Amino acid sequence: MKKNLFNVLIFLLFSSSIFAVGKNLSLMIGSGVAIFYPANFKAKANLPSFALLKEPKTIGKIPDSWKIFPHFYSKDGKSIATFSIQKGTSLYGTGEIKGPLLRNGEKITLWNTDNWKYLIDNGKRLYQSHPWILGVNADGSSFGIIADNTWKQQMEMTDSIRFISYGPAFRLIVIQRNSPQEVVEELGKLVGTMKMPPLWALGFQQSRYSYVPDKRVESVADTFRLKKLPCDVLWMDIDYMDNYKIFTFDSLKIPHPQAVNNYLHAAGFHSVWMIDPGVKIENNYFVYEEGSKGNHWVEKYDRSTFIGKVWPGNCVFPDFTRPATRHWWSGLYIKFMATGIDGVWNDMNEPSVFDGPNGTMPEDNWHRGGGGLPADIHRRYHNVYGMLMVKASREGILKANPDKRPFILSRSGYLGSARYAATWTGDNNGNEDNMKVSIPMTLNIGLSGQPFSGPDLGGFALNTTADLFGQWISMGVFFPFCRAHASKETNNKEPWAFGSKIENVSRTALNRRYQLLPYYYTLFHEAAQNGMPIMRPIFFADPKDTALRAEDQAFLIGNDIMIIPRWAIKPKLPMGIWRNLSFESDPANDDGYQATVKIKGGSIIPMIKTIQNTNDYSLDSLRLVVSLDKLGKAVGSLYEDAGDGFGYQKGEYKIYTFRAEQEGSTVNIEILPESGKLKFKRRLYLVKLITDSGRVTTGWTNKNRISIKL
Ligand code: NOJ
Repeated sequence: MKKNLFNVLIFLLFSSSIFAVGKNLSLMIGSGVAIFYPANFKAKANLPSFALLKEPKTIGKIPDSWKIFPHFYSKDGKSIATFSIQKGTSLYGTGEIKGPLLRNGEKITLWNTDNWKYLIDNGKRLYQSHPWILGVNADGSSFGIIADNTWKQQMEMTDSIRFISYGPAFRLIVIQRNSPQEVVEELGKLVGTMKMPPLWALGFQQSRYSYVPDKRVESVADTFRLKKLPCDVLWMDIDYMDNYKIFTFDSLKIPHPQAVNNYLHAAGFHSVWMIDPGVKIENNYFVYEEGSKGNHWVEKYDRSTFIGKVWPGNCVFPDFTRPATRHWWSGLYIKFMATGIDGVWNDMNEPSVFDGPNGTMPEDNWHRGGGGLPADIHRRYHNVYGMLMVKASREGILKANPDKRPFILSRSGYLGSARYAATWTGDNNGNEDNMKVSIPMTLNIGLSGQPFSGPDLGGFALNTTADLFGQWISMGVFFPFCRAHASKETNNKEPWAFGSKIENVSRTALNRRYQLLPYYYTLFHEAAQNGMPIMRPIFFADPKDTALRAEDQAFLIGNDIMIIPRWAIKPKLPMGIWRNLSFESDPANDDGYQATVKIKGGSIIPMIKTIQNTNDYSLDSLRLVVSLDKLGKAVGSLYEDAGDGFGYQKGEYKIYTFRAEQEGSTVNIEILPESGKLKFKRRLYLVKLITDSGRVTTGWTNKNRISIKL
């Protein structure tokens, strides 16, 4: 009762637009989670929050033991918050920026930018904004800071941490925990987690700007199957549209989109088609006409309609801050998805405006808001424009296909965007530097609440050499989002385009991913539950070991698999037992490209045979790869559900635990049901025990308790 009254008072205090707190205020909103309000905080200029799932409830005062406090001040019209940092603190997170894993020393601008080839600001300002920093102290204890602020801002991590905002004073949320993993999990609770994607989205995906006409799409699909290169998804970039008009199809290049999708489906593919936010101004174009009638466009400061150039020429842009606009936008997907489209790619949604200041809209453009969202200028809503777009897209795709899990890829994003869409790192280059940096970029996106991401494998811009493609795909198959993509003016970048050697290298790499799919799917489920990244930095293996803090060539998949790219030079690897994992389909002779894959002592990895696409995914014959720890034990788990649909939310899934224990010269392995309503299936198991002296393999058995003699 007392607590409720307290919350009502806090709410009243902040919900007045004119009233400012008067003095700084700090309160606990969870165990080890505090919120800090500057004296001049105004709710109307900041709330509702876009990052947080819900408005936090205060639970009391900050305890004396609390260590991390901000210092708020204003200077030159900017609102600033600083934190001092202890010596030996390693900083991460901060979203998508190009640079090494360790973010100490970086200056980052949060102003979503279409940054082709990462040329602008040396890639320190990219497509997404994550006002979020993860700090790992010298002793491994950790903290996280959310600047709950959508306004244009900068983050500096030089001698201290500084958030510098071009908007009004903002509040901060600070998490204190014993380990970085616990901080990331708390971030997931605060900003929400990814929704379980359909299984097919975990497969390999091939894209190009653009696969047209329809015959070319079909031939790419056929070639994958002919050459036995596993692949699940083909992507349709802007040229499928009629003059780049969204929700239309070019009548010559793609006259029958349904037929293209039917063809792909029959060959075991899914399709993802692009939709941008810019709407071509053209009479009799239904999207333009409907949107104009509904008054859906972003306005200029003088309240006239804003017009800017994108691919189709002069365009107008939906004002996604308006609930009515989001509702209208989501409705556009009904007919579109009915052509058999499986997934949607929302691109250019920073928004990119070719003739606008800094490649986007003027900062004083006007958004009308609604539904509790105040009307305000673009400077406030720019960084969440893409997030609002994918929120509306997701709703529409769900309305169109209520029984399927939506898959959306969004270029732009903000802290918490993983709730609606997966992402990729935009227009990178087909060069070695961009291949290498794609690892720390994806790792830090994962540490910023977005587990489902990856780069354009092979590189988007520039021609890619055969050797680079081979290097990239060999480690790229382990990224959570695994898609090769290429720009229009570049060489072909399908795995077969580089000659038979690299085609074989690619096949070996892709086979490896498909064999690991049960392990990946289990990790995707974990990420959807608790926000843990799928691809994790090496220091997660031992956060107290400061020697690992900067390692960003090698990386972890979950806790139990380590990937060391072939090109890695002296990677810093964690102590402990890590044994080599081999794959059934690897060629007899080393091809010189494949990554070293290690499995942690103490773990059991579920694997399947190579398949060509996830329609053939089956757990009926499961390989269990066991690597014992020094006590002779190992554990693992497996998540199983229908691979699509929402039955899993009603308990139609099964989680299995695998346990292995050595007793004398015998290792006993048990398969145990953990939770979920699905039937505990008797299936065929093949146990592969990796020991220091080699490998012991059982025959196939359908028993749930298996013994191996060493
Ligand atoms: C920009 C995107 O980043 C790229 O992936 C895409 O191919 C082009 N837009 C064309 O749609």
